[in-house]
Amino acid sequence: MEVFAGCEEYQPEYEPLPKQSRIYGMLKDRFIALSVTFGIAVILAIAIPLGIILPQRLIKPLPINVLIPFYMYPAPGAWEPLFEAIGKHVDANFTVVINPADGPGPAVWPTGEYLSVVKALNKYSNVQTLGYIDTARGAVDNATVRKEIETYAGWSNVSSDLTLAGIFFDQTPYKMDNESVAYRYLTNISAIVRHSDGFGGNSLVVHNPGRVPDASLMGSMPNLTVIFEGEYVNMPRKENLNSKLDGLRQNRKDLAMLVHSVPRGLGNTGLRRIIDDVRRDVEWLCLTDLTEKVYEGYGTLLKQWLEVIW
Ligand SMILES: *[C@@H]1O[C@H](CO)[C@@H](O)[C@H](O)[C@H]1NC(C)=O
Ligand SMILES: *[C@@H]1O[C@H](CO)[C@@H](O)[C@H](O)[C@H]1NC(C)=O
Ligand SMILES: *[C@@H]1O[C@H](CO)[C@@H](O)[C@H](O)[C@H]1NC(C)=O
Ligand SMILES: *[C@@H]1O[C@H](CO)[C@@H](O)[C@H](O)[C@H]1NC(C)=O
Ligand SMILES: *[C@@H]1O[C@H](CO)[C@@H](O)[C@H](O)[C@H]1NC(C)=O
Ligand SMILES: *[C@@H]1O[C@H](CO)[C@@H](O)[C@H](O)[C@H]1NC(C)=O
Repeated sequence: MEVFAGCEEYQPEYEPLPKQSRIYGMLKDRFIALSVTFGIAVILAIAIPLGIILPQRLIKPLPINVLIPFYMYPAPGAWEPLFEAIGKHVDANFTVVINPADGPGPAVWPTGEYLSVVKALNKYSNVQTLGYIDTARGAVDNATVRKEIETYAGWSNVSSDLTLAGIFFDQTPYKMDNESVAYRYLTNISAIVRHSDGFGGNSLVVHNPGRVPDASLMGSMPNLTVIFEGEYVNMPRKENLNSKLDGLRQNRKDLAMLVHSVPRGLGNTGLRRIIDDVRRDVEWLCLTDLTEKVYEGYGTLLKQWLEVIW
C-alpha cells in the first residue's frame, strides 16, 4: 500500500492515456516486441542453413582454373579424354603443359602426333598451351635453356595455330643465394621468353619451384608460380598455407598447386573440401590420384574434381 501511495503522488505529473488506448498501446508494444523476436528467429532459421549452402551453391565462389602438366605420348585417341574434359568445362580455363621429350626434343619441330594435339588444344578458347623446360634448380645452363625456348618459339613458324602461350620452367631454384645467381638466372630465362615473338605477343612464364620460394625471387617476374608440387599428404592446408604465403605478396591468380596421390573414395564432398581449403590462396590447381608417372595418365579423379571446382 505504501508503495502504491508513493506512486499515486506522482500521478498528477503523469498524463494517463485513455484506458482503451493504454491497453492498445501495451498490446501494440508487446506485438512489436514479439514480431521483432519472431522476425529475428525467422531470419536466423533461414539464414543459418542458407549460410552453409549459399557459398557453395548460389554465391559464385572464387574461380579455380586448371594447370595440367600432360606428358602422355599423343598416340591417336590417347588425348581424347583430356579434350572431352576441356570441352565439358568451358567455364574453367586450362593451361596445358606440353612436353615432347623432357623439353622440346632435338628436332626443330615435334612429331606429327604432337603437332596435331597442340593444334587441337589451341582451338579451344579456354585453353593455353605451354612448353616444358627443365632447369634442374638452375643447373641447366642458360644457353641450353635459351635454345629450348627458341625451339618452342619456332613452332609458331610451322603455322600460327601451333603457337604456344609461353613456357613452364620446371624445378626452378627456390632459394635466394647471396650472389643472386638464381635470381639472375630466373630473370634471364624469363626475359628471353618475353622478348621472343614466338609466343603470341603476351607470353606466360611459369616457375615451378614446387614449394614456396624465397620472396626475393619473385622479382624475377614469373606470371605464375607453383607453390606446391607433391603428394596429397604433404599439401599445405589453410592456416599453414596462409602463413607460408605471407611476404610473397602474390595474388591468388598467380599461384598454383600440383597435387598427386590424392586418396580415392573421398567423394565429391571430400574433394570440394580440399579445393575450398586452398581456394582463397591459389587459383590454379591440378589434382590426381596417380602415384607414379603422375603426369602421364588420367587417374580416376579427373572428371570428378573438375565437377566440383565451382
Ligand atoms: C578465363 O580466362 C578468361 C580470359 O583470360 C577470363 O576472362 C575468365 O574470367 C577466366 N575464367 C575463369 C573462370 O577464371
Ligand atoms: C622462326 O621464325 C623466326 C622469324 O622469322 C626466325 O628467327 C626463327 O629462326 C624461326 N625458327 C625456326 C625454328 O624455324
Ligand atoms: C656466399 O656464401 C658462401 C657460403 O654460404 C660464402 O662462402 C661466400 O663468401 C658468400 N659470398 C658473398 C659474396 O658473400
Ligand atoms: C649464363 O651462363 C654463363 C655460363 O655458365 C654464366 O657465366 C652467366 O652468368 C649466366 N647468365 C645468367 C644471366 O645466368
Ligand atoms: C641472358 O643471359 C645471357 C648470358 O648471360 C645474355 O647473353 C643474354 O643477353 C641474357 N638475355 C636477357 C634477355 O637478359
Ligand atoms: C606476364 O607478366 C609480364 C610481366 O609482369 C606481363 O607484362 C605480361 O602481360 C604477363 N603475361 C600474361 C599472359 O599475363
